[in-house]
Amino acid sequence: MEPKLPRLSKSLSTKSSNPLWNRLSLRARLLLPLAAMIVGALLLGGLALETFSPEQFADENAQGARSAQLVADALNAALAAANNPQQTLDAFADGLGTLAAIEFVPAGSKPPRTTTETYPGNVPAWFTALLQIPQLGSTHPIRIGTAHVGDILFKPDLSAEILEKWVGFLAIVASAAALMLLAGLSAYFTTGTALHPLAQLGAGLTRMRNGDFDATIPLAGPPEIRRSCAEANELAATLKRLSRDNRNLLRKLVAVQDDERRELARELHDEMGPLLFAIRANATALSDPEAEGPPEPGSPAHGILSAAEALQQANRRVLEGLSPVYVAELGLAASIQALLRNAQSQAPGLCVASRIDHRLNELDGLISQTTYRVIQEGLTNVLRHAQATTMGVVATVNGDQIQIEITDDGVGLPRDLTFGRGLTGMHDRVRALDGKLQVLREHGRTVARCRLPLDHPVGQ
Ligand SMILES: Nc1ncnc2c1ncn2[C@@H]1O[C@H](COP(=O)(O)OP(=O)(O)OP(=O)(O)O)[C@@H](O)[C@H]1O
Ligand SMILES: [Mg+2]
Repeated sequence: MEPKLPRLSKSLSTKSSNPLWNRLSLRARLLLPLAAMIVGALLLGGLALETFSPEQFADENAQGARSAQLVADALNAALAAANNPQQTLDAFADGLGTLAAIEFVPAGSKPPRTTTETYPGNVPAWFTALLQIPQLGSTHPIRIGTAHVGDILFKPDLSAEILEKWVGFLAIVASAAALMLLAGLSAYFTTGTALHPLAQLGAGLTRMRNGDFDATIPLAGPPEIRRSCAEANELAATLKRLSRDNRNLLRKLVAVQDDERRELARELHDEMGPLLFAIRANATALSDPEAEGPPEPGSPAHGILSAAEALQQANRRVLEGLSPVYVAELGLAASIQALLRNAQSQAPGLCVASRIDHRLNELDGLISQTTYRVIQEGLTNVLRHAQATTMGVVATVNGDQIQIEITDDGVGLPRDLTFGRGLTGMHDRVRALDGKLQVLREHGRTVARCRLPLDHPVGQ
């Protein structure tokens, strides 16, 4: 398992009081208030029409209603003064015939409707209903003496006014729609040009999180975003430098550790070896000089000899752990084979399959030490933790890298895996060489996989 930085999205997530709004895209956030504003303006327009148009209709037709009253009064006066009122009335009715809004209706004819307004036919009924047109028609009685001979009717024609309001309404709706379309298009393209560089910035940050500091983020979009892209590029450069410094430090650390171990191994070997040999020789000399062969079992000399042998073996084991002489003497491939034999002898029931590339022998220095140590720790972990029945070990040279894989069919990694000394050391060694380490469960097997880049090709 590669150690990972905490996910950016998690740390950036904000608690929101309005989750629906937070789920909306930037485009929707710009367009929705715009649409709401335009729809609101249209509704307000409709409300204004409904509120003010009755009064407006009444005002505009007040003159006509007054005229009808004046005509009726004048006719009544003329009829009262006329010698032949009926003749005067007939002449009046004939003369009035051309006026559309004022009409004379003789008494006894079929009574006309009192609501006599005329509406245009090409305006929808809902719009006319919205206008709330008041009752504007009026009736004025005409008398000769005391006899009711007919009525002057005022019947306004509202077609032109309604049509005018309808056309005005249509113009407002059309300009609102055009405005909305223009605003929508502008918001769509503006956010598009802003969002694309933001997406590139996000992709660049993700690359950085994955350790790729080389690809620069293109400077695009509005100045604010371009500035952020430039700063992200500078951050990448700084991280790259830090990462290189860190790797160099790790490499030095690992090299120093190996030197120290080698030094310790040499000291142990040079100091302990002769002393142990001397103890063995003296123990043999202490035994009965007459007797031939090794000292008698149970005798003090035999005890000293056994303890010295055990100490010698322990010393050899510690020396091997501290500095694998095999790598230098036998070459890396043979040293790994020796490790495998050792593992097999410690766990005789374990079935070990291996593929060790002989070209590994051409490696030297830190990379061969690292390969050896990674396999050594991988094997130790399988023996200590896995309870496996099969183990596979692959170490090959593949192009410009070394691939190492230790797999087992054991119990698997613990759920809350924490790196101990072994995996931490492995990780540090691999990072020092700019390699990659993964520890994971794959297809029912536990896998420790490592890639180490080679400075120069081998085996050609
Ligand atoms: N092959 C494996 N199968 C199951 N668990 C494993 C395997 N390899 C490692 N682990 C788990 O990973 C943990 C960390 O391993 P690591 O090698 O870092 O420490 P360790 O082996 O416990 O101790 P040491 O520091 O001595 O190596 C182990 O304790 C073990 O739980
Ligand atoms: Mg371990």
